Amino acid sequence: MSDGGPAVRRLADWNRERLLSLADEFGSPLYVTDLQRVRENCARLLSAFPDAHVSYAVKAHAGRAVLETVRETDIDAECASAGEVERALAAGFPGDRIRYTAVNPPAADLDHVVERWEENPELTITVGATDTIDRLRERGFDGRLCLRANPGIGAGHHEKVRTGAHAKFGIPIDRVSDLAAGVRDEFDLVGVHAHAGSGISGDDLSAHRELVRRMGDLARSVGDLEFVAVGGGFGVPYREDEPALDLATVADATREALGGTDAQLAIEPGRYVVADAGVLLSRVNTVKAVPETTVVGIDAGMTSLLRPAMYDAYHAISNLSRPDTETVPTIVAGPVCETSDVFADGRPLSRPERGDLLALGNAGAYGYEMASTYNSRPRPAEVVLDGDEFRLARRRETLDDVTSLERTASEHPHTDQ
Ligand code: LLP
Repeated sequence: MSDGGPAVRRLADWNRERLLSLADEFGSPLYVTDLQRVRENCARLLSAFPDAHVSYAVKAHAGRAVLETVRETDIDAECASAGEVERALAAGFPGDRIRYTAVNPPAADLDHVVERWEENPELTITVGATDTIDRLRERGFDGRLCLRANPGIGAGHHEKVRTGAHAKFGIPIDRVSDLAAGVRDEFDLVGVHAHAGSGISGDDLSAHRELVRRMGDLARSVGDLEFVAVGGGFGVPYREDEPALDLATVADATREALGGTDAQLAIEPGRYVVADAGVLLSRVNTVKAVPETTVVGIDAGMTSLLRPAMYDAYHAISNLSRPDTETVPTIVAGPVCETSDVFADGRPLSRPERGDLLALGNAGAYGYEMASTYNSRPRPAEVVLDGDEFRLARRRETLDDVTSLERTASEHPHTDQ
């Protein structure tokens, strides 16, 4: 297998003319996802972890074209909801390539996934609470079960994405061995699982190593397991000068920390697969010079890309319409009536003018997936590229879509029965 191309793909590596013409054709805001880059990222993961079982965390980008592209590699699907399981099945993943990780699962999710399991008995369900085991039992599930541990170690780019030590996730690690022994007769106990958090950089490697070490100990103490899953979370560089995470170093550290076990190492990256395969294109609506800066109002907002508002996340921005002009300090803001609807403050940009097209980098992961219709704003369209080809993968939402769920009193009169 090839090494999958360069470890980093920055905004400047995209074909500017092509992005400009896509926005002319499909309008803005527009997500553009490059499937060839998804393939390269998958190939790099598979070559760094040749002995591991690799699943793609569907939550990062659940679009069908991305899922089909991942399915064609040796990477399976890790799903966080019944909806994601549906999308993985629809994209052609067979049941034995789907792992469903139940996080405080609503009853309807369990009903649905257990129904799917009946048709696909090789589907694996990961649970993070003994309660969930009871609820699966009530539904007749006795298939492939994995226990999610709370390892007591969190890591990641922001407090809000550090999962490993938060009580919401997983069963306290010191209780997992006993639980495993207790459920073995009833279920096909295949694995143990933990996830530290998301966006782990080289600086967090010691936390990752410690989590893997604890999971290795757990796998040895439980014994007779098919796999030991140590989560996803591999970070990608968002800032232009940030170095890429060296996957070979992560892989070596992981193997060493895991120690000897018959259980296969399993990883489930999401961001790493899709982040730099996507950009968000957005048109400048207004340019307002104020004494201290220039406020650049664009047609994408926190409803299209939530990460800056939610995590103060940095996304590179470039003015595709004016690549060579000198820069001015700007505030880049969206059209939503919220102070946090700001993508950047103090960012140098090539003298933006009304109608210019901006690109926001690394928008492939947790971009469209976290979009909303707040302020009654339709969600963007998405175009996928594959070599010389491109096509619309998700149409733009319309104002009709925004109102279409509502029912009037005359259509659905209130009754007490
Ligand atoms: N496995 C589990 C159990 C997870 O909860 C997650 C992410 C992953 C794998 C994949 O993590 P990744 O490789 O993508 O870092 N919306 C946030 C990220 C939230 C991640 C939640 N769980 C963001 O935009 O940074």
